[in-house]
This record gives sequence, structure tokens and C-alpha cells, in this order.
Amino acid sequence: MALVCFPFKKEDVDVVMRNVKTAAQHPRVRMVLLVGASENETYVEIDARLPALGAQCDVPIVQMTQLRLGALREGKGDGMNTALLYFLRAHEYDELFGEPVVSEPLERIHFYDADIESFNSSWITKAEEAADMEYDVIRHYFPRSSTDAQITWQITKVGFSLLFPLSVLPWVQQPLGGELCLTRRCVDVLVSDERVMRQSDWGIDTLYTFVCAQAGMNMIEVYVPEGKLHALYGGLRDLFNMLIECFAALQGLQKCSIRAESVHRIASAEPVPNSVTSKIGYNIEKSLVLLSENWTPRQEELLHVLFPERVAAGLIACRDWPQYSFMDEATWVECYQVLLANFEFGDSDWHELIFKLWVSRVLNYTMRHVIRGYDTAMNELRHMVQDIQQKSAIELIKARREAQGCSPRVLASEQDKMRRVPSELSLFSDEYSSSFKTQAVPGIMNHAT
Ligand code: DGY
Repeated sequence: MALVCFPFKKEDVDVVMRNVKTAAQHPRVRMVLLVGASENETYVEIDARLPALGAQCDVPIVQMTQLRLGALREGKGDGMNTALLYFLRAHEYDELFGEPVVSEPLERIHFYDADIESFNSSWITKAEEAADMEYDVIRHYFPRSSTDAQITWQITKVGFSLLFPLSVLPWVQQPLGGELCLTRRCVDVLVSDERVMRQSDWGIDTLYTFVCAQAGMNMIEVYVPEGKLHALYGGLRDLFNMLIECFAALQGLQKCSIRAESVHRIASAEPVPNSVTSKIGYNIEKSLVLLSENWTPRQEELLHVLFPERVAAGLIACRDWPQYSFMDEATWVECYQVLLANFEFGDSDWHELIFKLWVSRVLNYTMRHVIRGYDTAMNELRHMVQDIQQKSAIELIKARREAQGCSPRVLASEQDKMRRVPSELSLFSDEYSSSFKTQAVPGIMNHAT
């Protein structure tokens, strides 16, 4: 039986209550857990409305505030990790959580953002049916606006493709997705991993995705055709913390090794509805001005010393007038590798710099590709990460062969064998991977129009 968790912050309480009711009335659900970031207005209002809702449902609905568990900014990670701990202990007395709420250990935990207007019971059913096939991780994926998901595409998918090209990670459709279902076995793996428990901020999704893959958990991605209708963003500044924390989480994983074996299935997608293709994900006008803000002499120096000169010149010129034509896909990959090697989490100049670089990248993508239509834009994003993955994979295979002392003239059949990842071999053993990962990968991509 399952627990459904809705982490929340400040939300439309009508939407939250409707989603809680949907979950509580699902036949597979044994309890619903609401984890609030704090005892704010939303929390108080939900508290007041829970007794009436509880009277209409047969399962316990529990609300709590998140525990302070991690070492980074108090955020989404603490909320999700609080839910994992609660899930493991809900059937027994526990010092942190008090009396048991269910009589048997719960088998699966589902997470759904509390503010999803399109949430319905099929989201739970799809995940439960997939879990019945013994997958450990069931992730929901759905169509998103071509101007939405720009941290997913430009940061996480680019990073996974560069750093772990032969693993399942580049293939994960929505690696930052907060809608997922995990088995008890998987939750045990996550809570016993210190890296997960310290990740109290937006980096938590990256950590869940990475650690599940690293532990060889079998994963399936189920498709939700109606998409996730939720409030979209104002200017890109709204995503500042998420950007920094998602990049820092990935940067922190760059020296980790990962094995290739784990099952990964992706349910097929369906035609994307007009409600998604016609949606604009962020306010372009408000975002242009961000390129001129919060400059310091040190940011300029970092640009001149570490980045290609055309990037330094292009970005610094934005102090007077917004520019973004310099930040095409290939240039972004070059910058990304500089960032992987040099970005300092906690340093405000680096935060501003990665933010402005990313804004220029998102604007470049928007003005070159999004204006040519939804399908064109999505194809460009897919090609960008596929090209990075392919180039990085080839470099990695070459480096591995060299590390194994193989002659370049190995027979074709030998080459084929080497393409498969031997089960005992870590893909990224440090001897050759750490230097490889921070080097520029030449010749990546040329999809400019
Ligand atoms: C992402 O990039 O996926 C974030 O949710 C922002 O859209």
C-alpha cells in the first residue's frame, strides 16, 4: 500500500485540497502526507480545512512541517527527505514522528507537487501499475512548454550528457521532475546515502535521480499526456536559486562513478496538446534586463581570465544593451565546462555570473529556435543533448581503451566488445575520467540555423 506525499510552500489551497482528496480516495493509497516548508498561511488554512476533508476519506491525512535535516539552504530537499523518513517509520512508534499511523510497513511513496491543477487519480494508477512490474523508481514525464524547463535542459541534461554519457542519466526524460513513486527498497537506499540527506535545497531532484541510477535501481518513466498545468514564471530571476543549486548539485557529482547496468524504460509519448505548445514559459522582456544587473569588477575579471574572449566581450557588453547571439549551443558547452571546473558555490560573484551566462543561453535558444515553432524548438533541445552525449561517449570510450592499454588497431570484433560496458568496470574510474570530464570536448554540435 502507498503513501502519497504533497510537499508544499505557498499554494492555492483549493487546488491542494482537491489533490489531497483525489489521492486519499484512490484504492491503492493507505495514507496522505502533506509536508509544509513552514507554518505559513497555506499551512494554517489547510489545517483548518483538514477535519472536514478527513470526514470524507477512509485513510489518514497527516500534515507536518519539514524537519531540518540537511546541510544546505533549507528547502525542497528537507521536505522530501522528511517524507522519506516518515514513510519508513509510519507503522511504528518513532521519536521524531510519534505514534504509528498505519499498522503495516508502507510499500511505496509517491510525490506530487501540491499545486498541479491537472492532477487526477490516473497519475497514481499509472505509477502503481508500473510498480507492480517491479520497477523501483517510477517517474512521471509530461509535455512542457518549449520555454519552460530551461534548467532541466541547459543545466541538468547537458551536465548528465557531458559527465555520464554511457549511463542511463542522459536518457532520463525529466531528471528534475518532482512527480515520482519509489519503492521501500529504493527509499532505504536514498536515506542511507549521506549525499542525499545533506541536500536540503533544490539539488535534491538531481541527487535522487543520480543516486537511484548509481545504485542500479530499475526505472520506468510513465507519460502523463495532459501535462503539468501550474503557475509559470515571471522573469528568469524567479529561477535564480534553483539554477545555482541544481548546477552545484551536479558539479558536486562530477567525480563520482556510475555503473551502466540498470533497466530503464520510457513509455511512449503522445501528441502534445495546444494548451502546452502555445504556452510561454517565462517573461522575455523582464528577462532581457537581467543581463545588465548586479555587475561587479570581479565578475568581469573572472570572465576575462577563464572564459573564451567572445563570451567575455559579449556578456560584458550586456551592461549597456542586452545581447545573446554569442551564446549558441557550442559556446554554452564550452562555458559549462569552465563552470564545472571553476564555479564556487556560495560565492555571490560566481552565482551572478552563472546566472547571466544561463540567461543569455536561454534567450539565445528562445530567439533562434522557439520563434520557429514548438516542434523545431524541442528538436533543437534534443539534438543539443544527443550531440553532447555522443561526443562525450566517444571520448570516454577512447580514453578507456587507452587506459586499458589497447592498441588502436584492435580488430573490429574487439571494438564491438569494448563498446559494451563490462559489468565489473566502473564507467568513470578516476584514473582517466576526472581529467577527461573537465576538458573541452571539441567540435560539439552545429545546429545553428
Ligand atoms: C526546470 O527547468 O525543469 C524547472 O522546473 C524550471 O522550469
